[in-house]
Amino acid sequence: MQALILAGGQGTRLRPLTATVPKPVVPLVDRPFIAFMLDWLRGHGVDDVVISCGFLASGVRNVLGDGSSWGVRLRYVEEPRPLGTGGAVKFAEPLLDERVLILNGDVLTDIDLTAQLAQHERTGARLTLALIGVDDPSAYGLVRLNDDDSVCAFLEKPSPDQIDTNLVNAGAYVLEREVLDAIPPGRNVSIEREVFPTLVDNGLYGCSADAYWLDIGTPERYLQATHDILDGAVRTSVPDGYDGRNVALAADAEVRGRVVGPAHVGSGVRVAQGALVSGRTVLGRNVEIGPGAHVDGAVVLDGAVVGPHATVTNAIVGPGVQLGARCRVGEGVVLGEGVVLGDENHLDAGARVFPNVSLPDGAIKF
Ligand code: GDD
Ligand code: MG
Repeated sequence: MQALILAGGQGTRLRPLTATVPKPVVPLVDRPFIAFMLDWLRGHGVDDVVISCGFLASGVRNVLGDGSSWGVRLRYVEEPRPLGTGGAVKFAEPLLDERVLILNGDVLTDIDLTAQLAQHERTGARLTLALIGVDDPSAYGLVRLNDDDSVCAFLEKPSPDQIDTNLVNAGAYVLEREVLDAIPPGRNVSIEREVFPTLVDNGLYGCSADAYWLDIGTPERYLQATHDILDGAVRTSVPDGYDGRNVALAADAEVRGRVVGPAHVGSGVRVAQGALVSGRTVLGRNVEIGPGAHVDGAVVLDGAVVGPHATVTNAIVGPGVQLGARCRVGEGVVLGEGVVLGDENHLDAGARVFPNVSLPDGAIKF
């Protein structure tokens, strides 16, 4: 089975995490995000994957290579300029089989694609969308279904008065290649806005899934995905690496303080005496947590240093960041790669600091 992953978006909502790393390969717990997708796809018989890249394409290729480390054949198509979701699929057409699974490249899920493929076959659909129930459909593509699972309306980013169901497009669909005949080449096309509506009552079906599902495209949801993976809420192999205290601890990590599981502690990490790591935290490779520091529910990426008595709570600390003593980094804050905060800076409420910015001691008190 073949799959095409759409991974050409700029990931603007995840900046500054995605300022230097393309969204598909942003590290999530212990691997580039898209590796979770490749595992999931492989589990449903996919062995041939095409990745549609635009922004920072070489970054994706450098991390994922030919796919051999992930057990699939990987090929890349690179648009000269962003063509939108429909334009990107059209652009990849020469590489596509008659029937292909198309995946949005920012969704962490364990939806049963095998069941979806079986339904697609049974109904004779031209396109079958996986559907998932969400609390607020306004940020997604809302889908109204008939009793026979055919779609009677598709509304991308519906307005409040249009919302009468919680079912949305999960960003995983089976497509018959002939659907692409209707898409003009070389033009920016949104498959959600320009193609799905034309297939209503014309071969578009939905397959409701009861599964874990999360679009990881914002800092809040990225942290949520991290916590859910550590909790074992989504089917992945991450918890397989846990010890008796639910901590995945690299053999060469040096923990003198306390790490409360579930947590992931990468290779070369040092947690100093008196430091506390809790609340479903991920420490990337070679991270240093200083004496008396407290890291709670956070993601601290490779090579970052958290100074003595600093606190990091539900925040994302980019690779190589240095936090001075007694810094406080609070809820939803994202620090880009290489940021340096002098002693006693206090950031909170989703503040975002762009890569390589340096702040002197005590510059910000939120
Ligand atoms: N190659 C390429 N080129 N990929 C693109 C482009 C492009 O021009 N534009 C977007 N993508 C990729 C993104 O990288 C992402 O993986 C996927 O297509 C979807 O784009 P998003 O920008 O993340 O869309 P969204 O989250 O607002 O909405 C989409 O996903 C929802 C589910 O998460 C829609 O498909 C909704 O209908 C759906 O409910
Ligand atoms: Mg998205």
